[in-house]
Amino acid sequence: MTIDFILNGEDVSIKAEPLERLSDLLRDRFGLSSLMSDCLNGTCGKCILFLDGRLVNSCLVPAFKVRGSEVITYEGFRSTEAHGTVARAFKEAGAEFCGFCDAAVYMAAGSLLESSERPSDSDISETMSSVYCRCTTPSVTLGAVRNAIESTMGGKYDRAR
Ligand code: FES
Ligand code: FES
Repeated sequence: MTIDFILNGEDVSIKAEPLERLSDLLRDRFGLSSLMSDCLNGTCGKCILFLDGRLVNSCLVPAFKVRGSEVITYEGFRSTEAHGTVARAFKEAGAEFCGFCDAAVYMAAGSLLESSERPSDSDISETMSSVYCRCTTPSVTLGAVRNAIESTMGGKYDRAR
């Protein structure tokens, strides 16, 4: 079937099997190497992307569901202000990434910067736990994301729990 959608800001059209995994389609046909295939069952979070603004595991999304949607992968996200903010915050928190899934960690953090309401610590922990990354600890991640949110909100972040 033909699938038309918006990928990182550009209109694209591709022929694909309806049930092809979105992660495979984007990596194999568009060369988007930020999408890792690890668990393929929705637990590791290494294939996350934004689908119509929502963070999803692309290994669980069949190609037909993308028709008419907007997809943003790390390749698109990394040129945003939110990416710069979260990358800085993790660096300042002392996080050292091996490069395997920092893209997914940054995108998960970035999704919290876009929230219309200030995320609580438990919101942050819940969202960040969607990416299983061994290079950082929950406390470093929480601190980094709090600081990213604080800098986005001009220092008005109140640590709601
Ligand atoms: S590869 Fe998609 S969640 Fe693990
Ligand atoms: S960046 Fe190293 S395991 Fe996630």
